[in-house]
Amino acid sequence: MSDIADHGASFDEARYRQVLGHFPTGITVVTAMAGHEPVGFSVGSFASLSLDPPQVLFCAGKSSSTWPKIQASGSFCVNVLSEDQEDVCRLFASKSQDKFAEIGWRHSGNGSPVIDGVLACIDCNITRALESGDHYVVIGDVADLQVLHEGGPLIFFRGGYGRFTS
Ligand SMILES: Cc1cc2nc3c(=O)[nH]c(=O)nc-3n(C[C@H](O)[C@H](O)[C@H](O)COP(=O)(O)O)c2cc1C
Repeated sequence: MSDIADHGASFDEARYRQVLGHFPTGITVVTAMAGHEPVGFSVGSFASLSLDPPQVLFCAGKSSSTWPKIQASGSFCVNVLSEDQEDVCRLFASKSQDKFAEIGWRHSGNGSPVIDGVLACIDCNITRALESGDHYVVIGDVADLQVLHEGGPLIFFRGGYGRFTS
């Protein structure tokens, strides 16, 4: 069963990506205001964490240039992408210097960007960022949350984009 335990030497990055790619995720864009500059990056590692108190989490890569700006702001907004926002995901996964120039958005209650057309948004205050491996596990206290549209979600699975069908 355990290839990692039995064949540790054969475990490599490509295999890790291939196997973990079989776990489907929704896609979010985590945003914040860095002073007057809107910032954000695509995040598939978002998850609900706690109901009492209400908390969520996501993982931020150490190589992200956006995460330090979000951390410095002290708060963030999780934008849940709809099935027709693959282009938004690609834009916010890029290293573009002005990701917000190409899209419509407004400020959330705590001031973070809410992207036009997202299914839901969750405003959070950062409570901690735990270092582990090449990522930080970021935990946020939920300050406000809203469903904005009832459409279907954008799904990421085996390295490609898709839609949810029941
Ligand atoms: C589907 C998808 C999911 C992603 N999930 C994460 C994630 O959970 N955490 C993360 O740090 N980067 C994730 N990324 C990568 C970042 O969006 C991207 O590499 C990085 O933010 C580049 O921009 P930056 O330097 O402005 O942060 C994901 C990318 C894609 C396409």
